[in-house]
Amino acid sequence: MSPADPFAGSQALVTGGGSGIGAALVRALVDAGAHVVVADLDEVAAQRVADEVTGRADVTGTARAVRLDVTDAAAVQAAVDDVVARGGRIDLLFNNAGITFGGETEDLALAHWDAIIDVNIRGVVHGVAAAYPHMVRQGAGGTAWGGHVVNTASMGGLMAAGLITSYVMTKHAVVGLSLALRTEAAAKGVGVTVICPAAVETPILEKGHLGRFHGRDYYLKGQGVRRPLDPDVLAAEALAAVASDRPLLVTPRPARIAWRVGRLAPAFANRAATRFVAKQRRLQDRRARKQGAAA
Ligand SMILES: NC(=O)c1ccc[n+]([C@@H]2O[C@H](COP(=O)([O-])OP(=O)(O)OC[C@H]3O[C@@H](n4cnc5c(N)ncnc54)[C@H](O)[C@@H]3O)[C@@H](O)[C@H]2O)c1
Repeated sequence: MSPADPFAGSQALVTGGGSGIGAALVRALVDAGAHVVVADLDEVAAQRVADEVTGRADVTGTARAVRLDVTDAAAVQAAVDDVVARGGRIDLLFNNAGITFGGETEDLALAHWDAIIDVNIRGVVHGVAAAYPHMVRQGAGGTAWGGHVVNTASMGGLMAAGLITSYVMTKHAVVGLSLALRTEAAAKGVGVTVICPAAVETPILEKGHLGRFHGRDYYLKGQGVRRPLDPDVLAAEALAAVASDRPLLVTPRPARIAWRVGRLAPAFANRAATRFVAKQRRLQDRRARKQGAAA
């Protein structure tokens, strides 16, 4: 492996690899010839993903599953050290595991805030703290390719989006960490890329809903998205972004346009985001009324 082809023969670890975007990243990496650890809190799901991709005659990559809770710093360190012990190095770390909560902020208990900070922020910090020092050593003072850290943030890491406020907070932290680390890491032979997709068709769209909040209405109907991104399409874009050492992947195109407009006109963007919350409340109310009538 090399910066030109960072995947063939590389040693990779994907957190949250048992589902959605993580599973798609595993498939794309194995297709590209990487040796991948599929790390997930849900060991059965991780094993299923590893089983799907291993043993295929057409690929040289491999996958093995491990149970990993990214909120456990010692466990993340042990998983990363194990990759290095077995494969001699760690080339690619995908900090991808994440959770979300949707609903009015007054419905969030402190336990919700703690949980989302622990997974979405601390989980990424644990990955960086465990793998980045190995990559710096592998980079030999910038004379060699040390590896690449890839963090899954979200469009919510770039723009304000009410009713998923705790999620937005954590993803802004991930964008900040990634872009700042990248400026340090470049001279040490280590790349950093942060992935910021809009809605992707994964089980997360149905998770973490408080009160009358409905994920599909929020992420799709409310935002006028006809079809969420296919996770395999996103994974291919993510690997292309890594291969070309891009700092940031914002996708799909309408999201990129909205983000650029927001940067040029932040006050306008914030007014639009406030109107979006009002529209969402109307949508969610209408749905709740319909459900009430049907019951
Ligand atoms: N789907 C989207 O619309 C979307 C959009 C932008 C960003 N994202 C981000 O993409 C990432 C992947 O999400 P997804 O959409 O594939 O969701 P998903 O729910 O399908 O997958 C998330 C995976 O993370 C695992 N996980 C949760 N907590 C964990 C923990 N403590 N330790 C280890 N694993 C844990 C889950 O078991 C699950 O397998 C998340 O960071 C999410 O915020 C998703």
